[in-house]
Amino acid sequence: MSIPEDELNTVAFEVIDGIAWVKYNRPEKRNCQSPKLNRQMLRVLDELEFNDDVDVLVLTGEGDAFCAGMDLKEYFRETEVLGMGGVRKSQREAYGWWERLRWYQKPTIAMVNGWCFGGAYGPLFSCDLAFAADEAQFGLSEINWGILPGGGATKVATNLMNFRNAMYHALMGENLSGKEAAEQGLVNESVPLAQLKERVIEVAKNLQKKNPVALKATKDVVRRVSEMTFDNAMDYLIRAQEAANSFDPVGRKEGIKQFIDDKTYKPGLGAYDKSKQAS
Ligand code: COA
Repeated sequence: MSIPEDELNTVAFEVIDGIAWVKYNRPEKRNCQSPKLNRQMLRVLDELEFNDDVDVLVLTGEGDAFCAGMDLKEYFRETEVLGMGGVRKSQREAYGWWERLRWYQKPTIAMVNGWCFGGAYGPLFSCDLAFAADEAQFGLSEINWGILPGGGATKVATNLMNFRNAMYHALMGENLSGKEAAEQGLVNESVPLAQLKERVIEVAKNLQKKNPVALKATKDVVRRVSEMTFDNAMDYLIRAQEAANSFDPVGRKEGIKQFIDDKTYKPGLGAYDKSKQAS
């Protein structure tokens, strides 16, 4: 079945120097997430995930919004009239790509260039790292229009923020600037909008130097162990390391060799030279 043009156009992407720039592309609607956008985003993620030209994926928004949450008209109003089946279908489409992104093969960065509301917290958390513009605005606006922060937004807030801040954020419907979002843990850092892309490229380039098998293993274990007891995590990390070794039996040995024998780098100060690694 062919996909209508207006659905395809909800997401834009390009790959430049190993970085996939994936953009919410509904600037006239402040990039809010409609069922069409949710379906298209999954297709784009699919296309890029095992593309050898892609080392790192950046999720950002066209125009002055990162993403104004769920589309109140197309995602809520127009699916509610379809009954339970319609509602569950559009929830699956949205939650599906957020989950896919959470466990994505490549490291991911959210580049929050502007408005970031409610339903955008799912993809925000799905990205491994997040950088915001000082000018960005973060809000759980749900309370302002009469619902609770669903779609995982409450869980994201309580995972990333402390209890008092998460509760205030959810109850008050006030926005946080990029700087405040960084202070409260929603993003790693906030910089002036004019410097945001440059900073994200710097981070992406650093990630590109690392062993890709180790990156995937590391991003997954950070997410998994946060929900485990200490002893379960200790055991799980042994298994996860051994599983990663089976995908890349040579990388870590090369990393040890370049430090101990060749003395060409120090792991405490940067990554080993991957180009010298036999595949
Ligand atoms: N759902 C549906 N439509 C939305 C939307 C959303 N979440 N966010 C923005 N839009 C639409 C507006 O209805 C408007 O459509 P129109 O041009 O057909 O009238 C268009 O996008 C531009 O929005 P506007 O409100 O005029 O832009 P703004 O720059 O003045 O304000 C926001 C930006 C983000 C502050 C404001 O659009 C807003 O509050 N959006 C809703 C945020 C929200 O609560 N999201 C839901 C969280 S789950």
